[in-house]
Amino acid sequence: MVGRILTTLVLYGSAAFTALAAGPLPGQIKNLVTFGDSYTDVDGHADGGIVWPVYAAQDGHFKLFPFAKSGATCSNNLTARPFPSVFESQLPLYFAEKSNGTLRLNPEETIYTLWIGTNDVGANALLTGSQPPGVSVVDTVSCAVNWVKVMYASGARNFVFQNMIPLEHAPMYTPESYPNRYWTGPRNTTAWSVFMAELTRSGNAIAELMLKDLAPQLHGAHLGLFDSHALFTDMLNHPQLYLNGTAPLNVTGAVHACVFQEGESTGDPGVCTDATGTDRDSFLWYDELHPSEQADRMVGKIISDTIHRKSEKWITWLS
Ligand SMILES: *[C@@H]1O[C@H](CO)[C@@H](O)[C@H](O)[C@H]1NC(C)=O
Ligand SMILES: *[C@@H]1O[C@H](CO)[C@@H](O)[C@H](O)[C@H]1NC(C)=O
Ligand SMILES: *[C@@H]1O[C@H](CO)[C@@H](O)[C@H](O)[C@H]1NC(C)=O
Ligand SMILES: *[C@@H]1O[C@H](CO)[C@@H](O)[C@H](O)[C@H]1NC(C)=O
Ligand SMILES: *[C@@H]1O[C@H](CO)[C@@H](O)[C@H](O)[C@H]1NC(C)=O
Repeated sequence: MVGRILTTLVLYGSAAFTALAAGPLPGQIKNLVTFGDSYTDVDGHADGGIVWPVYAAQDGHFKLFPFAKSGATCSNNLTARPFPSVFESQLPLYFAEKSNGTLRLNPEETIYTLWIGTNDVGANALLTGSQPPGVSVVDTVSCAVNWVKVMYASGARNFVFQNMIPLEHAPMYTPESYPNRYWTGPRNTTAWSVFMAELTRSGNAIAELMLKDLAPQLHGAHLGLFDSHALFTDMLNHPQLYLNGTAPLNVTGAVHACVFQEGESTGDPGVCTDATGTDRDSFLWYDELHPSEQADRMVGKIISDTIHRKSEKWITWLS
């Protein structure tokens, strides 16, 4: 009898342990709720086609609830831009829909993603010193980590935090960059590229430390740090593993590359070179700032495989 009780206890003990293991179980997640900027905005089509959350939802059979908006930063309090930021727009909409019953999501079956930072660290924000005095990358990254806390406090239990890509390799931020739809002002492209490399790497390192500190405090939650920086570095170094178009593989140019004159209005069309048809899938970048649709197909598939625990390559489950 005592033996049976002990066996039962041991079995229950191990079941409890399994339930608390890092990361959700394969097949556990049914809903994907996305926050972020143009990289994730399903209505913005900033990759010239379908963006990654739609591909992830297709691949992983998730129901998609998209909140990301083009141009967004984490908070307009920190880096003011005339776009719907995560804290002043996306979260308020999410909470409004949650409280009036439009959204009814079982926390166990729902995962929340955030991919933010491109605009926070970019031109017209930290890169150009356009933020209010005293605001730094420490604040913009703290804001992104705070998204996890706020969502957890509201009942969310599964998270994927996508860090910043090596933006210094996006055509807008390379030393070889040219005046483009996002920036035509005078600038030192080498200095921009060097500073961008510092902002993305240091911001990602701060995020990792903060998330590792936070994870043990979020009882019953699963929090994954998705290393977009490493994934895009791998795409840059091994494009043949990701790109499959009919033009020579290209990680420096863009599907839709438009050259402006210095000082020209960014509202002008510029002089564009466009890849068409199956050539498009040879490019890592769609335009000077955004990944291509083929890059997004890859991100979508990898995120789906990550959430379903088929791949651990680009994620660290902190809880
Ligand atoms: C932004 O500023 C407003 C007004 O000071 C404040 O109420 C709000 O909490 C701030 N939001 C964030 C995310 O810091
Ligand atoms: C719930 O709130 C959202 C966001 O404000 C709004 O669009 C929607 O119409 C509301 N639905 C109901 C049933 O009140
Ligand atoms: C541009 O920035 C780089 C790196 O900071 C520097 O070495 C170079 O002298 C600058 N060029 C000009 C023209 O100021
Ligand atoms: C990459 O694409 C750009 C167009 O944005 C083009 O100018 C460049 O020659 C291409 N590079 C290669 C290696 O094909
Ligand atoms: C490249 O691969 C994707 C799947 O990742 C596929 O949908 C697309 O059609 C392929 N592109 C070409 C030009 O074969």
